[in-house]
Amino acid sequence: MRLVLVGPPGAGKGTQAEFIAAHFGIPKISTGDIFRANVSGGTELGQRAKKYMDAGDLVPDEVTNAMVRDRLAEPDAVDGFLLDGFPRNVAQAEVLSDILAEIGSPLSVVLDLEVDFEEVVKRLSGRRTCKQCGHVLHVDYDGPRSESTCDRCGGELYQRDDDKPETVRHRLDVYAEQTAPLIDFYRERGTLEAIDALGAVEDVTERAIGALTPFA
Ligand code: AP5
Ligand code: ZN
Repeated sequence: MRLVLVGPPGAGKGTQAEFIAAHFGIPKISTGDIFRANVSGGTELGQRAKKYMDAGDLVPDEVTNAMVRDRLAEPDAVDGFLLDGFPRNVAQAEVLSDILAEIGSPLSVVLDLEVDFEEVVKRLSGRRTCKQCGHVLHVDYDGPRSESTCDRCGGELYQRDDDKPETVRHRLDVYAEQTAPLIDFYRERGTLEAIDALGAVEDVTERAIGALTPFA
């Protein structure tokens, strides 16, 4: 299955991507995670991306598209993949369809995680990430014992720099202007499935797997 996850910042794309990718046995490719790994590793790519990420803006398309093209050429992506965070605008969607046309494998489906803006603000303001294993959790939804240590590995939790309230507001504007038009773009091409992403994580996973199974 060749799958794209879309939805506003904080919709739970990263959270669900992990379970969906494991269920269907496909690699999870998250452009946000790749950029963050490059920023913390101090690579040239990370240095180019950092100022855009800190401001809540999109990294320029030429940087992002080249990175995704390289990643999709790796052997584990040949039989399918889950893209989380890409495409992020119509120009990136067109590049993705060109890349897939070159290899003769069109997208199977695009899954839109629907959540209202009030909920995404709550989710992003309470999000914490483990420094050690990368696990993402929420200070309120995952219980008070998660407040400073990871419940998977005991590692230290941190708050993403771009989860500060003013940056969150800007990311939501960028989503509305640049990313939301993708929903109609894919709906017109008949590849869109949408699910309600409110409720417990495991209930959303069940809805996602139910919507995706016909495309597997
Ligand atoms: P990226 O990392 O992609 O950020 P995003 O799209 O803003 O998405 P998030 O990671 O914020 O949210 P999510 O939907 O994954 O939610 P999560 O599962 O963590 O991008 C970051 C930056 O990188 C961009 O701003 C840009 O600069 C750059 N970038 C990346 N891709 C790019 C591209 N293609 N082009 C250009 N630039 C690009 O969940 C959020 C919180 O909610 C967590 O705390 C979680 O525990 C909690 N939660 C999840 N599900 C539930 C639930 N059901 N109930 C309660 N809580 C829940
Ligand atoms: Zn951890």
